[in-house]
Formats: sequence, C-alpha cells, structure tokens
Amino acid sequence: MKDLRENWSSNLGFVLAATGSAIGLGNLWKFPFITWKNDGGAFVLIYLVCIIAVGLPIMMAELLVGRKTQKSAVGAMRETIGPSWGWVGTWGVMAGFVILSYYAVVAGWSIFYLFQTLQWSVSGFPTQANMGGLFADLAANGTMQTALSGTFMFLTVGVVYFGVASGIEKTARLCLPALFVILLLLLFSSLTMEGSGEALAFLFRPNFSELDSAAVLEALGHSFFTLSLGMGTMIVYGSYVARNRSIVNAAGSIVVLDTVIAIIASIIMFSVIFTVPGMPEQVDGSAVGMLFISLPQLFYEVVPFGVVLAPAFYLLVALAALTSTISLLEVVVSYFIDQRKMERSRATLLSGACIYVFTFLSGMSFGASTWLSSFELFEGKAGFFATLDHFASNWALPLGGLLITLGVGWFMSTKDTEAELVATGSPRWFSYKAWLFSVRFIAPAAVAAILIAVIFLGKDFS
Ligand code: TRP
Repeated sequence: MKDLRENWSSNLGFVLAATGSAIGLGNLWKFPFITWKNDGGAFVLIYLVCIIAVGLPIMMAELLVGRKTQKSAVGAMRETIGPSWGWVGTWGVMAGFVILSYYAVVAGWSIFYLFQTLQWSVSGFPTQANMGGLFADLAANGTMQTALSGTFMFLTVGVVYFGVASGIEKTARLCLPALFVILLLLLFSSLTMEGSGEALAFLFRPNFSELDSAAVLEALGHSFFTLSLGMGTMIVYGSYVARNRSIVNAAGSIVVLDTVIAIIASIIMFSVIFTVPGMPEQVDGSAVGMLFISLPQLFYEVVPFGVVLAPAFYLLVALAALTSTISLLEVVVSYFIDQRKMERSRATLLSGACIYVFTFLSGMSFGASTWLSSFELFEGKAGFFATLDHFASNWALPLGGLLITLGVGWFMSTKDTEAELVATGSPRWFSYKAWLFSVRFIAPAAVAAILIAVIFLGKDFS
C-alpha cells in the first residue's frame, strides 16, 4: 500500500498548498481585527515573536511527524510517539471537523459580497446604502446562509475529491498567484491614500504601554490559527512530502508568506479606515463589521480604482478561504482513507455531508433560528457559531498543539527528529538545538499559559 500513497507533484506545489492552508480568513479577517483591538505596533511585534519562537518550531514538528511516517494525523502520532498518542490525532480530526463547519459560513459571505460588489461595480453603488442593514439581513436569512455556505462546501468537496496532486495542489497553484496579484494591486492603491501614513505608523510604531498580558496570549493563540497548527493539518500535508525534501526550508517559506500577507492585509484595511474622518471610531465594533460592513462602501467612496478593486478584494477573500477549507477537509478525509481504509471519493462525500450539517446549524445561528442563535454552552458565547469558534480557538487548538509539541519534544528520540530536520540539508538560519529548546520548553510553556488563562482566568481568545 505504501507505494501507492499520493504525493505532491513538486516541492513548490507542496509549499503553495501549505501556504494556502495557512493564508485564510485568519489573515484577512481575524488578524487585522485583533491588531486593531490591541492598538497595533507593540501587538504586531509580540505577534512576530510568537510566530518565530512558537509557531515556526511547532510547524516543523508537525511536518516532520507527517513526513517521517507518510501517514495522516492518527497513524502518524501513533507510529512516531506511541500507540496511545493516536488520540491526539483523533482530537485533531475532530477539531478540523468543527473549524470547517463554521469557517464555511464566513467563507460563504465572501461569495455574497463578491457578487454584490460585482453588481454595484456594473450598475453603480446605491446612494442611500445601508451597509449595516444589508449585512444584518444576510445574516438572518436562513435560505441565503444555507445556499452560500453550501456552495462553499460544494467547492471544497469538489477539490478534495480529486486528491492531493490533481485537486489540492492544482487549486493552490491557481489560487495563490491570483491572490498575490490582487493583494499587491490593493496595496499599491491603498498606499496612495491619505490615511496610509497613519496606518503604517499604527502598525509599526510600538507603544508598549498599551499592551497587557491578555494581548500576548491573544497573539499566541492567533499564531496557531493562522498557521493551521494544533490539529494535524501540517502532519497530513507533511505526509505527502517526499523523503528527500527539506521541511525546514518549507516551514520557513510558509511562515514568512503567511505573516507578510497578514501585514499587507492590515496595511490595506487601515489605510482605508484612516482616510475617512470618523471611521476609526466607527469600526471598533467587530471583525465582521470591518470586512463586510465598513469596507464594501469605502471601496466605492475613497479607494482609487475601487470599482475594480472591490470585487477583486472579495474574490481574494473567497480564494484564500478555499485553500484553507480544503486543508481542513483533507485532515478529516485522510483519516477515513488511512485509518478506515475508505476510498477517497467516498470519504470526501461522507465527511463533506456530515460537516455540512454543522455548517447549516452555524449559518442558522445569526437570527434565522432563535434557538440556535441564543444557545449558550460557554458563558457569554451565545449562538451555535460562537460556541464552535470558542471551542476551537480556546480548547481544541491549544490542547492539540500542546500535546503535539510535548510528544515530539520529549517522546521522540532526538536522533529521529534531528534526522528528519537536518539530514535532507537545512538552511543556515536553522539551529537544531534552538528548535529542540523551543519544542521542549518555550512552546509548551507558552501554550500552557493560554490554557491556564482560559481555564482559570476565564479569558476568551475566539
Ligand atoms: N489558517 C487558516 C486561516 O488563517 C485556517 C485554517 C486552515 C486552520 N486549517 C487550519 C486553522 C487548521 C486551524 C487549524 O484562516
């Protein structure tokens, strides 16, 4: 069976697919929002430290487990660390299931705004637009939610159905270059705007007096989400990497690209926001507000070439989301293929259908169903969608990440981990000792701090 395992067709294809998994709503939606909430500058710096000291080493840990075993999350953890560690893989599969189910809802909204802005660009932006009202109507419209998230799920299933090289890798090869081009066009346009100076100062001028410990943990928690860590996505993607490739190099590229994109997205959004007087006060509300309420209108009012760039922007959001949803689905599907010996086609359709039930419920929890909208499992997190997001960001990913880093750091032999990381050649910036120190001490301590804050201090990072 082993020889039949699918592989990436090239190293570039792998790096693009993994980067596609990392770049998603986390970069375009969550990162600008939490940066805004935490007053920029110092937060961005802390975030960079978390990415380098914790995110990057865990990314390498996940990739090495996958590449070594050529197995998906459950089998890989079992084989490298020990039979009982299969549970960590199972926990990851479940987390993938949960995250995909609510992620598809927001991804669906990007399709709505893609078509809405296309229509405005053709027939003119309405003078009396009420963007808050438009979004509220969409959110509470059960039929729309079901159709939009269903479309997104259909696309995701459609890609994963065709497998690693001809489905996932091909999609990443098409989407990522398009995504980079659109983002650069938006960046050029936004840098000509009046607010861009203020936006850059906001992002890059640190003011440490604004920073509290909750912000540090938030930066840390986000570094897991944005790099697709803590649930075995990178184990699975690593399992399709040929044994003679350096995963250290790949991890470096993925992390750099993901971070650069998050920062560019923030420069674009903040330039727009700072250009409009009074806007900085208005957007304080929520992440949804920034992306789907404030921005659509501003594209037509202040952004140079906004008529073209508005639909381009929502296309960018949709493409970025798609390359992430396929990675989430692949974790679940590869479990059924490897562990349950299912055919890929069957595994994909079955997982897609089961996950969609939860997607449907999440979509109905913005007003369409009173019960689902007020359902409260975690205090202060009303609604099915908020419950799933809270569970994933606060519990599933940190716990998964903690166990993976402890397992790889303490229970795998250093001979094995060193062979995986350096035998295929590693770049000059890489130090095996520093990596080992991080996965043994820094990363577990940092992630444990998140869990302690959630459990004992009632913090919330979703
Ligand atoms: N990283 C993606 C984003 O930033 C989301 C994502 C894809 C993810 N796969 C994941 C998050 C696995 C956590 C775990 O939007």
